[in-house]
Amino acid sequence: MFNKFFAAVALSVLSLATPNAFAQQKPVDAEGHQWWQHAVFYEIYPRSFADSNNNGVGDLNGIASKLDYLKDLGIDAIWMTPFFPSPQVDFGYDVSDYDAIDPMYGTLHDFDHLSAEAKQRNIRLILDLVVNHTSDQHPWFKESRSSRDNPRRDWYIWRDGKGPGQPPNNWLSTFGLSGWTFDPKTKQYYYHYFYPEQPDLNWRNPAVEKAMLDVTRFWYKRGVAGFRLDAVDTLFEDPALTDNPVLEGTDKFGRHNMKESYNKKLPEVHDVMRKLRNTADEYGAVLIGETWTSDVGELKDYYGSKNDELQMPMDLMMTGFKGLSADQYRKHIAAVNAAGHWPVYVITNHDIIRSYTRYSDDTHNDDIAKMMAALYLTLRGSAIMYYGEEIGMQNNDPKSKEDVQDPIGKLGWPTEKGRDGERTPMQWTAGPNAGFSEVKPWLPVPPSAITHNVASEMKDPNSIYNFYHQLLALRHTEPALLDGDWVPLNEADPNVLAYVRRYKDEAILVVLNMSATDQNVTLDYAPAGFSAPNLKVLLTSVDKSAAVSAADAIPMAPYSAYIAKLSK
Ligand code: NOJ
Repeated sequence: MFNKFFAAVALSVLSLATPNAFAQQKPVDAEGHQWWQHAVFYEIYPRSFADSNNNGVGDLNGIASKLDYLKDLGIDAIWMTPFFPSPQVDFGYDVSDYDAIDPMYGTLHDFDHLSAEAKQRNIRLILDLVVNHTSDQHPWFKESRSSRDNPRRDWYIWRDGKGPGQPPNNWLSTFGLSGWTFDPKTKQYYYHYFYPEQPDLNWRNPAVEKAMLDVTRFWYKRGVAGFRLDAVDTLFEDPALTDNPVLEGTDKFGRHNMKESYNKKLPEVHDVMRKLRNTADEYGAVLIGETWTSDVGELKDYYGSKNDELQMPMDLMMTGFKGLSADQYRKHIAAVNAAGHWPVYVITNHDIIRSYTRYSDDTHNDDIAKMMAALYLTLRGSAIMYYGEEIGMQNNDPKSKEDVQDPIGKLGWPTEKGRDGERTPMQWTAGPNAGFSEVKPWLPVPPSAITHNVASEMKDPNSIYNFYHQLLALRHTEPALLDGDWVPLNEADPNVLAYVRRYKDEAILVVLNMSATDQNVTLDYAPAGFSAPNLKVLLTSVDKSAAVSAADAIPMAPYSAYIAKLSK
Protein backbone atom coordinates (compact mmCIF):
# COMPACT_ATOMS: atom_id res chain seq x y z
CA MET A 1 0.00 0.00 0.00
CA PHE A 2 2.70 2.45 1.07
CA ASN A 3 4.86 1.40 -1.83
CA LYS A 4 2.06 2.10 -4.26
CA PHE A 5 1.45 5.48 -2.68
CA PHE A 6 5.12 6.45 -2.91
CA ALA A 7 5.32 5.18 -6.44
CA ALA A 8 2.37 7.38 -7.41
CA VAL A 9 3.91 10.42 -5.71
CA ALA A 10 7.25 9.73 -7.35
CA LEU A 11 5.54 9.43 -10.73
CA SER A 12 3.67 12.69 -10.39
CA VAL A 13 6.83 14.50 -9.23
CA LEU A 14 8.61 13.01 -12.22
CA SER A 15 5.95 14.18 -14.62
CA LEU A 16 6.09 17.68 -13.13
CA ALA A 17 9.80 17.62 -13.77
CA THR A 18 9.34 16.52 -17.36
CA PRO A 19 10.88 19.39 -19.26
CA ASN A 20 8.32 19.42 -22.02
CA ALA A 21 4.70 18.58 -21.62
CA PHE A 22 4.65 17.19 -25.16
CA ALA A 23 7.70 14.94 -24.61
CA GLN A 24 7.57 11.26 -25.54
CA GLN A 25 4.49 11.53 -27.69
CA LYS A 26 2.30 8.50 -28.06
CA PRO A 27 1.48 7.43 -31.59
CA VAL A 28 -1.71 9.01 -32.89
CA ASP A 29 -2.91 6.05 -34.94
CA ALA A 30 -2.61 2.34 -35.50
CA GLU A 31 0.25 2.96 -37.93
CA GLY A 32 2.45 4.34 -35.16
CA HIS A 33 2.42 7.84 -36.64
CA GLN A 34 3.48 10.76 -34.48
CA TRP A 35 1.42 13.92 -34.03
CA TRP A 36 3.43 15.83 -36.60
CA GLN A 37 2.57 13.29 -39.28
CA HIS A 38 -1.09 14.20 -38.96
CA ALA A 39 -0.50 17.88 -38.38
CA VAL A 40 -1.01 20.89 -40.58
CA PHE A 41 1.74 23.44 -39.92
CA TYR A 42 1.20 27.14 -40.46
CA GLU A 43 4.12 29.49 -40.96
CA ILE A 44 3.80 32.92 -39.35
CA TYR A 45 6.06 35.84 -40.15
CA PRO A 46 5.65 37.63 -36.80
CA ARG A 47 6.33 41.12 -38.18
CA SER A 48 3.32 40.76 -40.43
CA PHE A 49 0.67 38.69 -38.70
CA ALA A 50 -1.11 40.88 -36.15
CA ASP A 51 -0.02 44.12 -34.48
CA SER A 52 -1.39 44.24 -30.92
CA ASN A 53 0.37 47.43 -29.82
CA ASN A 54 -0.22 49.42 -32.98
CA ASN A 55 3.33 50.32 -33.90
CA GLY A 56 3.09 48.97 -37.45
CA VAL A 57 4.94 45.72 -36.71
CA GLY A 58 3.30 42.46 -35.62
CA ASP A 59 4.09 40.86 -32.26
CA LEU A 60 3.61 37.84 -30.02
CA ASN A 61 0.46 39.16 -28.35
CA GLY A 62 -0.93 39.71 -31.83
CA ILE A 63 -0.32 36.06 -32.65
CA ALA A 64 -1.91 35.00 -29.33
CA SER A 65 -5.02 37.00 -30.21
CA LYS A 66 -5.46 34.99 -33.41
CA LEU A 67 -5.17 31.48 -31.99
CA ASP A 68 -8.91 30.90 -32.12
CA TYR A 69 -8.86 31.81 -35.79
CA LEU A 70 -6.04 29.32 -36.41
CA LYS A 71 -7.71 26.58 -34.41
CA ASP A 72 -10.95 27.03 -36.27
CA LEU A 73 -9.11 26.99 -39.60
CA GLY A 74 -7.64 23.59 -38.74
CA ILE A 75 -4.07 24.38 -37.77
CA ASP A 76 -2.16 22.04 -35.44
CA ALA A 77 1.20 23.75 -35.16
CA ILE A 78 2.63 27.16 -35.90
CA TRP A 79 6.17 27.81 -37.03
CA MET A 80 7.19 31.35 -36.22
CA THR A 81 10.16 32.90 -38.02
CA PRO A 82 12.74 34.39 -35.60
CA PHE A 83 11.55 36.83 -32.95
CA PHE A 84 14.78 36.87 -30.93
CA PRO A 85 16.74 40.08 -30.27
CA SER A 86 18.19 41.18 -33.57
CA PRO A 87 19.38 44.30 -35.37
CA GLN A 88 16.82 43.21 -38.02
CA VAL A 89 19.25 43.48 -40.92
CA ASP A 90 17.69 40.25 -42.22
CA PHE A 91 14.46 40.79 -40.25
CA GLY A 92 15.35 38.44 -37.43
CA TYR A 93 17.58 35.95 -39.24
CA ASP A 94 20.47 37.88 -37.70
CA VAL A 95 20.14 36.84 -34.06
CA SER A 96 22.02 38.72 -31.34
CA ASP A 97 20.66 36.68 -28.40
CA TYR A 98 19.14 33.22 -28.81
CA ASP A 99 17.55 33.04 -25.37
CA ALA A 100 15.36 36.13 -25.34
CA ILE A 101 12.63 37.96 -27.25
CA ASP A 102 13.22 41.14 -29.23
CA PRO A 103 11.31 43.93 -27.43
CA MET A 104 9.70 44.74 -30.78
CA TYR A 105 7.80 41.44 -30.50
CA GLY A 106 7.24 41.34 -26.74
CA THR A 107 8.81 39.65 -23.73
CA LEU A 108 9.50 36.15 -22.46
CA HIS A 109 6.35 36.58 -20.41
CA ASP A 110 4.40 37.21 -23.63
CA PHE A 111 5.99 34.12 -25.10
CA ASP A 112 4.92 32.01 -22.13
CA HIS A 113 1.42 33.43 -22.43
CA LEU A 114 1.32 32.54 -26.14
CA SER A 115 2.64 29.09 -25.35
CA ALA A 116 0.03 28.47 -22.64
CA GLU A 117 -2.82 29.74 -24.83
CA ALA A 118 -1.63 27.61 -27.74
CA LYS A 119 -1.38 24.56 -25.53
CA GLN A 120 -4.95 25.02 -24.35
CA ARG A 121 -6.00 24.77 -27.98
CA ASN A 122 -3.65 21.87 -28.66
CA ILE A 123 -1.59 23.98 -31.04
CA ARG A 124 2.15 23.31 -30.91
CA LEU A 125 4.81 25.99 -31.27
CA ILE A 126 7.78 25.53 -33.57
CA LEU A 127 10.58 28.10 -33.38
CA ASP A 128 13.11 29.02 -36.02
CA LEU A 129 16.70 28.20 -35.15
CA VAL A 130 19.30 30.13 -37.09
CA VAL A 131 22.14 27.64 -36.92
CA ASN A 132 24.44 28.74 -39.70
CA HIS A 133 25.27 32.25 -38.48
CA THR A 134 24.62 34.87 -35.84
CA SER A 135 24.30 38.62 -36.06
CA ASP A 136 27.57 40.55 -36.08
CA GLN A 137 26.10 42.17 -32.96
CA HIS A 138 25.95 38.88 -31.06
CA PRO A 139 28.35 39.00 -28.06
CA TRP A 140 30.05 35.87 -29.44
CA PHE A 141 31.02 37.68 -32.62
CA LYS A 142 31.91 40.90 -30.85
CA GLU A 143 34.37 38.92 -28.75
CA SER A 144 35.55 36.94 -31.75
CA ARG A 145 36.41 40.04 -33.74
CA SER A 146 38.05 41.82 -30.79
CA SER A 147 41.46 40.16 -31.25
CA ARG A 148 43.11 37.27 -33.03
CA ASP A 149 43.75 35.49 -29.75
CA ASN A 150 40.31 35.95 -28.20
CA PRO A 151 38.98 32.59 -26.95
CA ARG A 152 35.99 33.00 -29.25
CA ARG A 153 38.08 33.80 -32.34
CA ASP A 154 37.57 30.26 -33.59
CA TRP A 155 33.79 30.41 -33.18
CA TYR A 156 33.64 32.00 -36.64
CA ILE A 157 35.57 31.52 -39.90
CA TRP A 158 38.53 33.94 -39.95
CA ARG A 159 41.22 33.75 -42.62
CA ASP A 160 44.00 35.84 -44.13
CA GLY A 161 43.39 37.33 -47.55
CA LYS A 162 45.38 36.18 -50.58
CA GLY A 163 47.03 39.57 -50.78
CA PRO A 164 46.10 43.23 -50.32
CA GLY A 165 42.40 43.69 -51.07
CA GLN A 166 42.06 40.02 -52.07
CA PRO A 167 39.73 37.75 -50.12
CA PRO A 168 40.86 34.21 -49.18
CA ASN A 169 39.00 32.63 -52.13
CA ASN A 170 36.21 33.18 -54.66
CA TRP A 171 33.21 32.15 -52.55
CA LEU A 172 30.21 34.43 -52.92
CA SER A 173 27.49 35.50 -50.53
CA THR A 174 24.11 34.34 -51.79
CA PHE A 175 22.85 37.83 -50.92
CA GLY A 176 25.21 39.56 -53.38
CA LEU A 177 28.86 40.68 -53.08
CA SER A 178 31.72 38.53 -51.80
CA GLY A 179 31.37 35.87 -49.13
CA TRP A 180 34.23 37.52 -47.22
CA THR A 181 34.43 40.79 -45.33
CA PHE A 182 37.70 42.35 -44.24
CA ASP A 183 37.89 43.42 -40.62
CA PRO A 184 40.48 46.24 -40.35
CA LYS A 185 40.97 45.77 -36.61
CA THR A 186 42.57 42.32 -36.84
CA LYS A 187 43.38 42.48 -40.56
CA GLN A 188 41.66 39.21 -41.44
CA TYR A 189 38.55 38.30 -43.39
CA TYR A 190 35.48 36.60 -41.93
CA TYR A 191 33.16 34.42 -43.97
CA HIS A 192 29.41 34.95 -44.38
CA TYR A 193 27.17 33.01 -46.73
CA PHE A 194 24.48 35.67 -46.24
CA TYR A 195 24.87 39.40 -45.40
CA PRO A 196 28.16 40.67 -43.91
CA GLU A 197 26.10 41.29 -40.75
CA GLN A 198 25.52 37.50 -40.56
CA PRO A 199 28.94 35.91 -39.92
CA ASP A 200 28.99 32.11 -40.29
CA LEU A 201 29.57 30.11 -37.14
CA ASN A 202 32.41 27.61 -37.17
CA TRP A 203 30.63 24.29 -36.60
CA ARG A 204 33.97 22.48 -36.49
CA ASN A 205 34.47 24.03 -33.05
CA PRO A 206 32.85 21.77 -30.39
CA ALA A 207 32.12 24.83 -28.23
CA VAL A 208 29.85 26.21 -30.97
CA GLU A 209 28.03 22.91 -31.20
CA LYS A 210 27.52 22.81 -27.44
CA ALA A 211 26.27 26.39 -27.33
CA MET A 212 23.68 25.76 -30.04
CA LEU A 213 22.48 22.50 -28.52
CA ASP A 214 22.04 24.40 -25.26
CA VAL A 215 19.91 26.96 -27.09
CA THR A 216 17.58 24.20 -28.22
CA ARG A 217 17.36 22.86 -24.65
CA PHE A 218 16.49 26.32 -23.34
CA TRP A 219 13.43 26.46 -25.59
CA TYR A 220 12.44 22.81 -25.25
CA LYS A 221 12.29 23.37 -21.50
CA ARG A 222 9.99 26.31 -22.16
CA GLY A 223 7.61 24.02 -23.97
CA VAL A 224 8.35 24.36 -27.67
CA ALA A 225 7.52 21.31 -29.75
CA GLY A 226 10.41 21.62 -32.17
CA PHE A 227 12.45 23.78 -34.50
CA ARG A 228 12.59 24.73 -38.11
CA LEU A 229 16.34 24.75 -38.77
CA ASP A 230 17.46 27.64 -40.94
CA ALA A 231 19.96 27.26 -43.77
CA VAL A 232 21.30 23.85 -42.80
CA ASP A 233 22.83 23.27 -46.24
CA THR A 234 25.55 25.83 -45.54
CA LEU A 235 26.76 24.84 -42.06
CA PHE A 236 30.18 23.68 -43.22
CA GLU A 237 32.89 24.93 -45.54
CA ASP A 238 35.89 23.18 -47.02
CA PRO A 239 38.74 23.83 -44.53
CA ALA A 240 41.20 24.10 -47.45
CA LEU A 241 39.05 26.93 -48.86
CA THR A 242 39.18 25.51 -52.38
CA ASP A 243 37.79 27.93 -54.97
CA ASN A 244 34.33 27.09 -56.28
CA PRO A 245 34.15 26.28 -60.01
CA VAL A 246 33.04 29.27 -62.09
CA LEU A 247 30.17 28.58 -64.49
CA GLU A 248 28.84 30.23 -67.63
CA GLY A 249 26.59 33.27 -67.29
CA THR A 250 25.79 35.70 -64.51
CA ASP A 251 23.40 35.72 -61.55
CA LYS A 252 20.76 38.30 -60.63
CA PHE A 253 23.40 40.49 -59.00
CA GLY A 254 25.49 40.43 -62.18
CA ARG A 255 28.20 38.14 -60.77
CA HIS A 256 29.63 35.03 -62.42
CA ASN A 257 27.56 31.93 -61.70
CA MET A 258 29.32 29.47 -59.43
CA LYS A 259 28.90 25.86 -58.53
CA GLU A 260 28.88 25.87 -54.72
CA SER A 261 30.93 22.68 -54.42
CA TYR A 262 33.02 23.71 -51.42
CA ASN A 263 30.70 25.75 -49.20
CA LYS A 264 27.40 23.88 -49.39
CA LYS A 265 26.03 20.46 -48.46
CA LEU A 266 29.30 19.13 -47.10
CA PRO A 267 28.90 15.65 -45.56
CA GLU A 268 29.65 17.01 -42.06
CA VAL A 269 26.21 18.67 -42.11
CA HIS A 270 24.72 15.27 -41.38
CA ASP A 271 26.75 14.85 -38.17
CA VAL A 272 25.20 18.04 -36.85
CA MET A 273 21.72 16.96 -37.90
CA ARG A 274 22.20 13.78 -35.87
CA LYS A 275 23.34 15.72 -32.82
CA LEU A 276 20.43 18.12 -33.02
CA ARG A 277 18.14 15.13 -33.40
CA ASN A 278 19.61 13.39 -30.35
CA THR A 279 18.81 16.43 -28.25
CA ALA A 280 15.38 16.78 -29.82
CA ASP A 281 14.66 13.15 -28.94
CA GLU A 282 15.38 13.85 -25.28
CA TYR A 283 12.37 16.17 -25.38
CA GLY A 284 10.14 14.36 -27.88
CA ALA A 285 10.60 17.29 -30.27
CA VAL A 286 10.37 17.48 -34.04
CA LEU A 287 12.94 19.00 -36.41
CA ILE A 288 11.94 20.59 -39.68
CA GLY A 289 14.71 21.48 -42.08
CA GLU A 290 15.13 24.30 -44.56
CA THR A 291 16.54 21.80 -46.99
CA TRP A 292 17.09 23.03 -50.52
CA THR A 293 17.59 19.91 -52.56
CA SER A 294 17.86 19.40 -56.27
CA ASP A 295 16.42 15.90 -56.30
CA VAL A 296 14.67 13.34 -54.15
CA GLY A 297 17.95 11.52 -53.43
CA GLU A 298 19.40 14.58 -51.72
CA LEU A 299 16.18 15.06 -49.79
CA LYS A 300 16.32 11.46 -48.64
CA ASP A 301 19.77 12.05 -47.14
CA TYR A 302 18.33 14.59 -44.71
CA TYR A 303 16.18 11.96 -43.02
CA GLY A 304 19.40 10.14 -42.14
CA SER A 305 20.45 6.67 -43.19
CA LYS A 306 19.04 5.35 -39.91
CA ASN A 307 16.19 7.83 -39.69
CA ASP A 308 18.34 9.62 -37.19
CA GLU A 309 18.43 13.12 -38.69
CA LEU A 310 15.45 15.35 -39.50
CA GLN A 311 11.94 14.01 -39.12
CA MET A 312 10.68 16.71 -41.49
CA PRO A 313 13.14 17.94 -44.11
CA MET A 314 11.09 20.27 -46.27
CA ASP A 315 10.52 19.30 -49.86
CA LEU A 316 10.99 22.73 -51.42
CA MET A 317 11.36 21.39 -54.94
CA MET A 318 7.79 22.19 -56.01
CA THR A 319 8.47 25.88 -55.37
CA GLY A 320 10.77 25.84 -58.36
CA PHE A 321 8.35 24.24 -60.83
CA LYS A 322 7.58 26.48 -63.75
CA GLY A 323 3.87 26.71 -64.53
CA LEU A 324 1.34 23.98 -63.88
CA SER A 325 1.94 20.62 -65.44
CA ALA A 326 0.11 17.52 -64.27
CA ASP A 327 2.96 15.41 -65.52
CA GLN A 328 5.64 17.26 -63.60
CA TYR A 329 3.72 17.07 -60.30
CA ARG A 330 2.80 13.42 -60.85
CA LYS A 331 6.39 12.37 -61.46
CA HIS A 332 7.67 14.35 -58.50
CA ILE A 333 5.09 13.04 -56.05
CA ALA A 334 5.67 9.48 -57.25
CA ALA A 335 9.42 9.86 -56.72
CA VAL A 336 8.95 11.32 -53.24
CA ASN A 337 6.62 8.49 -52.26
CA ALA A 338 8.94 5.88 -53.71
CA ALA A 339 11.75 7.22 -51.51
CA GLY A 340 9.81 5.80 -48.60
CA HIS A 341 9.94 8.61 -46.05
CA TRP A 342 7.23 10.86 -44.68
CA PRO A 343 6.99 13.77 -47.16
CA VAL A 344 6.77 17.43 -46.15
CA TYR A 345 5.23 19.54 -48.88
CA VAL A 346 5.73 23.27 -49.16
CA ILE A 347 4.53 25.46 -52.01
CA THR A 348 5.61 28.85 -50.72
CA ASN A 349 7.12 30.72 -47.78
CA HIS A 350 8.58 34.06 -46.69
CA ASP A 351 11.44 33.80 -49.21
CA ILE A 352 9.42 32.72 -52.23
CA ILE A 353 6.86 34.51 -54.38
CA ARG A 354 3.37 33.68 -53.09
CA SER A 355 1.74 30.77 -54.86
CA TYR A 356 -1.30 32.92 -55.78
CA THR A 357 0.95 35.20 -57.83
CA ARG A 358 3.25 32.46 -59.09
CA TYR A 359 0.47 30.46 -60.75
CA SER A 360 -1.76 33.42 -61.65
CA ASP A 361 -3.17 33.52 -65.20
CA ASP A 362 -5.24 36.65 -64.43
CA THR A 363 -8.48 34.81 -65.25
CA HIS A 364 -8.69 31.86 -62.90
CA ASN A 365 -6.57 33.04 -59.98
CA ASP A 366 -8.93 32.04 -57.18
CA ASP A 367 -9.66 28.69 -58.83
CA ILE A 368 -5.95 28.00 -59.17
CA ALA A 369 -5.42 28.86 -55.49
CA LYS A 370 -8.09 26.32 -54.50
CA MET A 371 -6.74 23.69 -56.83
CA MET A 372 -3.22 24.07 -55.43
CA ALA A 373 -4.62 23.81 -51.91
CA ALA A 374 -6.39 20.61 -52.90
CA LEU A 375 -3.07 19.32 -54.16
CA TYR A 376 -0.71 19.96 -51.26
CA LEU A 377 -3.29 19.27 -48.58
CA THR A 378 -4.40 15.89 -49.90
CA LEU A 379 -1.02 14.31 -50.49
CA ARG A 380 0.50 11.71 -48.21
CA GLY A 381 2.68 13.60 -45.74
CA SER A 382 2.69 16.71 -43.62
CA ALA A 383 1.93 20.10 -45.12
CA ILE A 384 3.30 23.50 -44.20
CA MET A 385 1.05 26.41 -45.10
CA TYR A 386 2.19 30.02 -45.26
CA TYR A 387 0.02 32.67 -43.60
CA GLY A 388 -2.46 34.24 -45.98
CA GLU A 389 -2.45 31.37 -48.48
CA GLU A 390 -5.88 30.48 -47.12
CA ILE A 391 -7.31 33.80 -48.30
CA GLY A 392 -5.41 34.08 -51.58
CA MET A 393 -2.94 36.77 -50.58
CA GLN A 394 -0.84 37.88 -53.49
CA ASN A 395 2.65 39.33 -53.74
CA ASN A 396 2.86 43.07 -53.33
CA ASP A 397 6.34 43.83 -54.61
CA PRO A 398 7.87 47.28 -54.03
CA LYS A 399 7.17 49.72 -56.83
CA SER A 400 10.45 51.60 -56.52
CA LYS A 401 13.87 51.01 -55.04
CA GLU A 402 13.19 53.62 -52.31
CA ASP A 403 10.30 51.50 -51.03
CA VAL A 404 12.39 48.33 -50.60
CA GLN A 405 13.00 47.06 -47.07
CA ASP A 406 14.80 43.80 -47.80
CA PRO A 407 18.51 44.56 -48.41
CA ILE A 408 18.78 42.08 -51.27
CA GLY A 409 16.12 44.10 -53.08
CA LYS A 410 18.14 47.27 -52.59
CA LEU A 411 21.28 45.62 -53.88
CA GLY A 412 19.73 43.75 -56.77
CA TRP A 413 17.08 46.26 -57.93
CA PRO A 414 15.38 45.94 -60.37
CA THR A 415 16.30 42.34 -61.31
CA GLU A 416 16.02 41.26 -57.69
CA LYS A 417 13.24 43.12 -55.87
CA GLY A 418 13.78 41.33 -52.58
CA ARG A 419 11.25 39.45 -50.51
CA ASP A 420 9.02 42.26 -49.22
CA GLY A 421 6.27 41.27 -51.64
CA GLU A 422 5.55 37.95 -49.96
CA ARG A 423 5.82 39.35 -46.42
CA THR A 424 3.06 41.95 -46.38
CA PRO A 425 0.58 42.22 -43.47
CA MET A 426 -2.02 39.53 -43.00
CA GLN A 427 -5.33 40.70 -44.43
CA TRP A 428 -7.89 40.39 -41.67
CA THR A 429 -10.57 42.83 -42.86
CA ALA A 430 -11.45 45.14 -45.73
CA GLY A 431 -10.83 48.11 -43.40
CA PRO A 432 -7.78 50.38 -43.02
CA ASN A 433 -4.45 48.52 -43.11
CA ALA A 434 -6.43 45.32 -43.68
CA GLY A 435 -7.17 45.21 -39.95
CA PHE A 436 -3.54 44.32 -39.24
CA SER A 437 -2.76 47.54 -37.34
CA GLU A 438 -4.26 50.93 -36.57
CA VAL A 439 -1.17 52.63 -37.96
CA LYS A 440 0.70 52.38 -41.26
CA PRO A 441 2.23 48.90 -41.37
CA TRP A 442 5.92 48.30 -42.04
CA LEU A 443 5.03 46.98 -45.50
CA PRO A 444 2.11 48.12 -47.65
CA VAL A 445 -1.12 46.16 -47.99
CA PRO A 446 -2.05 45.41 -51.62
CA PRO A 447 -5.34 46.72 -53.12
CA SER A 448 -6.58 43.12 -53.33
CA ALA A 449 -7.05 43.16 -49.53
CA ILE A 450 -10.45 44.74 -50.18
CA THR A 451 -11.72 41.42 -51.53
CA HIS A 452 -9.21 38.93 -50.18
CA ASN A 453 -9.43 39.17 -46.43
CA VAL A 454 -10.54 36.92 -43.60
CA ALA A 455 -13.72 38.78 -42.61
CA SER A 456 -15.16 39.00 -46.13
CA GLU A 457 -14.14 35.50 -47.16
CA MET A 458 -15.62 33.91 -44.06
CA LYS A 459 -19.02 35.19 -45.22
CA ASP A 460 -18.66 33.91 -48.77
CA PRO A 461 -19.31 30.14 -49.10
CA ASN A 462 -17.31 30.04 -52.35
CA SER A 463 -14.24 31.83 -51.03
CA ILE A 464 -10.73 30.45 -50.95
CA TYR A 465 -10.94 30.62 -47.15
CA ASN A 466 -14.03 28.40 -47.06
CA PHE A 467 -12.43 25.95 -49.44
CA TYR A 468 -9.39 25.66 -47.15
CA HIS A 469 -11.66 25.38 -44.12
CA GLN A 470 -13.53 22.42 -45.58
CA LEU A 471 -10.40 20.84 -46.97
CA LEU A 472 -8.59 21.00 -43.64
CA ALA A 473 -11.61 19.49 -41.90
CA LEU A 474 -11.55 16.56 -44.36
CA ARG A 475 -7.83 16.16 -43.90
CA HIS A 476 -8.26 15.79 -40.17
CA THR A 477 -11.15 13.36 -40.27
CA GLU A 478 -10.68 11.09 -43.29
CA PRO A 479 -8.42 8.13 -42.47
CA ALA A 480 -7.46 7.77 -46.12
CA LEU A 481 -6.16 11.35 -46.21
CA LEU A 482 -4.29 10.91 -42.95
CA ASP A 483 -2.76 7.50 -43.47
CA GLY A 484 -3.51 6.31 -46.98
CA ASP A 485 -1.01 5.46 -49.67
CA TRP A 486 -0.93 7.41 -52.93
CA VAL A 487 -1.98 5.75 -56.18
CA PRO A 488 -1.86 7.79 -59.40
CA LEU A 489 -4.58 7.22 -62.04
CA ASN A 490 -4.56 8.02 -65.78
CA GLU A 491 -0.84 8.61 -65.71
CA ALA A 492 -0.65 9.62 -69.35
CA ASP A 493 -3.02 12.58 -68.94
CA PRO A 494 -1.04 15.81 -69.50
CA ASN A 495 -3.79 18.06 -68.12
CA VAL A 496 -5.36 16.30 -65.19
CA LEU A 497 -3.65 14.99 -62.09
CA ALA A 498 -5.77 12.25 -60.54
CA TYR A 499 -4.95 9.98 -57.64
CA VAL A 500 -6.48 7.86 -54.91
CA ARG A 501 -5.48 7.85 -51.26
CA ARG A 502 -6.23 4.36 -49.88
CA TYR A 503 -6.25 3.18 -46.31
CA LYS A 504 -7.77 -0.19 -45.36
CA ASP A 505 -11.37 -0.03 -46.69
CA GLU A 506 -11.28 3.71 -47.20
CA ALA A 507 -10.44 5.39 -50.49
CA ILE A 508 -10.52 9.02 -51.52
CA LEU A 509 -10.24 10.23 -55.08
CA VAL A 510 -8.64 13.57 -55.90
CA VAL A 511 -8.93 15.00 -59.42
CA LEU A 512 -7.18 18.26 -60.32
CA ASN A 513 -7.57 19.93 -63.67
CA MET A 514 -4.26 21.71 -64.11
CA SER A 515 -5.24 23.18 -67.47
CA ALA A 516 -7.11 26.29 -68.65
CA THR A 517 -9.63 24.24 -70.61
CA ASP A 518 -12.60 22.09 -69.68
CA GLN A 519 -11.72 18.43 -69.27
CA ASN A 520 -14.09 15.50 -69.30
CA VAL A 521 -12.25 12.93 -67.26
CA THR A 522 -12.89 9.21 -67.60
CA LEU A 523 -10.78 7.44 -65.05
CA ASP A 524 -9.32 3.97 -65.06
CA TYR A 525 -9.61 2.98 -61.40
CA ALA A 526 -7.84 -0.37 -61.77
CA PRO A 527 -4.50 0.77 -60.25
CA ALA A 528 -6.43 1.63 -57.08
CA GLY A 529 -8.24 -1.72 -57.07
CA PHE A 530 -11.66 -0.51 -58.28
CA SER A 531 -13.55 -1.13 -61.53
CA ALA A 532 -16.66 1.08 -61.40
CA PRO A 533 -16.75 2.53 -57.90
CA ASN A 534 -19.48 4.66 -56.42
CA LEU A 535 -18.45 8.22 -55.86
CA LYS A 536 -19.64 10.36 -53.01
CA VAL A 537 -18.58 13.96 -53.54
CA LEU A 538 -16.81 15.45 -50.52
CA LEU A 539 -15.59 18.76 -51.91
CA THR A 540 -15.38 20.53 -55.25
CA SER A 541 -13.89 23.90 -56.01
CA VAL A 542 -16.05 25.20 -58.85
CA ASP A 543 -19.41 24.47 -60.42
CA LYS A 544 -20.68 22.08 -57.76
CA SER A 545 -23.71 21.09 -59.85
CA ALA A 546 -21.41 19.60 -62.50
CA ALA A 547 -19.88 17.12 -60.08
CA VAL A 548 -20.97 13.56 -60.71
CA SER A 549 -21.76 10.81 -58.25
CA ALA A 550 -21.29 7.86 -60.55
CA ALA A 551 -18.19 6.29 -61.97
CA ASP A 552 -18.48 7.83 -65.39
CA ALA A 553 -16.80 10.91 -66.87
CA ILE A 554 -16.16 13.74 -64.46
CA PRO A 555 -16.66 17.18 -65.99
CA MET A 556 -13.82 19.35 -64.75
CA ALA A 557 -13.87 23.12 -65.27
CA PRO A 558 -10.50 24.84 -65.84
CA TYR A 559 -8.28 24.60 -62.77
CA SER A 560 -10.91 22.85 -60.71
CA ALA A 561 -10.54 20.33 -57.91
CA TYR A 562 -12.83 17.40 -57.19
CA ILE A 563 -12.59 15.21 -54.10
CA ALA A 564 -14.81 12.19 -53.59
CA LYS A 565 -15.06 9.08 -51.48
CA LEU A 566 -14.90 5.81 -53.42
CA SER A 567 -16.75 2.65 -52.55
CA LYS A 568 -17.26 -0.65 -54.36
C1 NOJ B 1 16.66 31.32 -44.89
C2 NOJ B 1 15.56 32.18 -44.37
O1 NOJ B 1 14.33 31.61 -44.70
C3 NOJ B 1 15.76 33.55 -44.99
O2 NOJ B 1 14.67 34.39 -44.78
C4 NOJ B 1 17.03 34.13 -44.45
O3 NOJ B 1 17.29 35.36 -45.08
C5 NOJ B 1 18.21 33.18 -44.70
N1 NOJ B 1 17.91 31.82 -44.41
C6 NOJ B 1 19.38 33.57 -43.85
O4 NOJ B 1 19.13 33.28 -42.51
